Amino acid sequence: MAARVKAAQPVRRGKSKPKGDAATRVLVLSGPNLHRLGKRQPEIYGTQTLEDIHRLLAVHAESANTQVTCRQSNYEGELVSWIGDAKAEGFHGLLLNPGALTHTSYALYDALLGAELPCVELHLSNPDAREAFRRKSTVAPACVGRVAGFGATSYVLALDGLRAHLARQAPPH
Ligand code: DQA
Repeated sequence: MAARVKAAQPVRRGKSKPKGDAATRVLVLSGPNLHRLGKRQPEIYGTQTLEDIHRLLAVHAESANTQVTCRQSNYEGELVSWIGDAKAEGFHGLLLNPGALTHTSYALYDALLGAELPCVELHLSNPDAREAFRRKSTVAPACVGRVAGFGATSYVLALDGLRAHLARQAPPH
């Protein structure tokens, strides 16, 4: 599934920072099994579907002059390609919930290192409070920050964190 939530905005290519009134464009990626949110272990991940979360995020983003494009894949290579193409597609930053790939994927780590865009790692649950294997994140060293443990709100908080990071990179003059 590649759920997309987009407001009508012109595509800006190759620019790393939004200028003037142009909306900040953020690519939001969710990895394996997150298409089953709502049905999958609701006691851990909540009852909202990924579409619900994408809608919530789009509403929040709009109030902050930000446009989110939300995609989900169960395939590591597809996520790698989306990350690698993001800057050329005109995005200014990334939010990434890699699912279980968080704990295993050097390919995602390398993709983020090469992306030339800031990324915030996010999780619905708090992996540090779960099984031992979840305490390691291969992508964390390539991210500007991490939000975990707040359910659907993690997506919203991660967007705010990314926006604050981008604002520090490009202060208004
Ligand atoms: C997750 C945490 C991961 O450990 C797990 O494999 C997931 C979801 C989260 O959002 O809490 O699939 O990324």
